[in-house]
Amino acid sequence: MAKLVYSAIASLDGYVADEDGNFDWAVPDEEVHAFINDLDRPLGIYLYGRRMYQTMVGWEIDPTLADRSPLMRDFAEIWQAADKIVYSGTLEAVSTAKTRIERDFDPEAVRNMKASAGRDMLVGGPHLAAQAFRAGLVDECHLFVAPIVVGGGKRSLPDDVRLKLELLDERRFGSGMVYLYYRTSRTR
Ligand SMILES: NC(=O)c1ccc[n+]([C@@H]2O[C@H](COP(=O)([O-])OP(=O)(O)OC[C@H]3O[C@@H](n4cnc5c(N)ncnc54)[C@H](OP(=O)(O)O)[C@@H]3O)[C@@H](O)[C@H]2O)c1
Repeated sequence: MAKLVYSAIASLDGYVADEDGNFDWAVPDEEVHAFINDLDRPLGIYLYGRRMYQTMVGWEIDPTLADRSPLMRDFAEIWQAADKIVYSGTLEAVSTAKTRIERDFDPEAVRNMKASAGRDMLVGGPHLAAQAFRAGLVDECHLFVAPIVVGGGKRSLPDDVRLKLELLDERRFGSGMVYLYYRTSRTR
């Protein structure tokens, strides 16, 4: 059974983007980027909300991103190698290979995918991930906490979900970012 992993870089107060939609404070430095590359390398399928997909497509359609450094090239190659499913009611076409659109988030379909996928899967974009959390589909969280309080914006975790978490690992980076790796289990 493949695991479904939720991964996010958030402020200390729990936002992936501030009230103006900015998340420049969440951009990983080289040390964090190298760590994320290794976390993402084994993942086979990315489940993306449309907004997160549109943030990430540059890793395939903008070659200048990969040209910035060997680390960025490595990430671009990892990203391009994975299959992607984009959930959207509005997107008419995708601009990347190995990508398909789903019009609805069907928990049963994702459960079946987990049962048949040979490699672990990622869910990204908090709006989409909230639905996976509510359906009890998220097995692990990779949370990066940036050393900033932004005061509001887009929450990294949904309000209406209660989960017990088991801390499996943690790491502190030179930039002040902290990685928290949790396994989830539902509470009654
Ligand atoms: N902190 C960081 O490192 C970081 C990195 C990247 C991005 N971000 C921020 O995070 C934001 C993305 O998070 P998000 O929570 O706003 O968006 P998201 O979950 O990525 O995308 C939301 C969109 O996904 C589609 N969707 C969600 N559930 C669906 C369903 N059940 N059926 C069909 N479509 C569904 C809808 O698209 P349609 O509107 O097309 O129907 C919805 O508007 C970005 O916009 C950016 O601001 C932060």
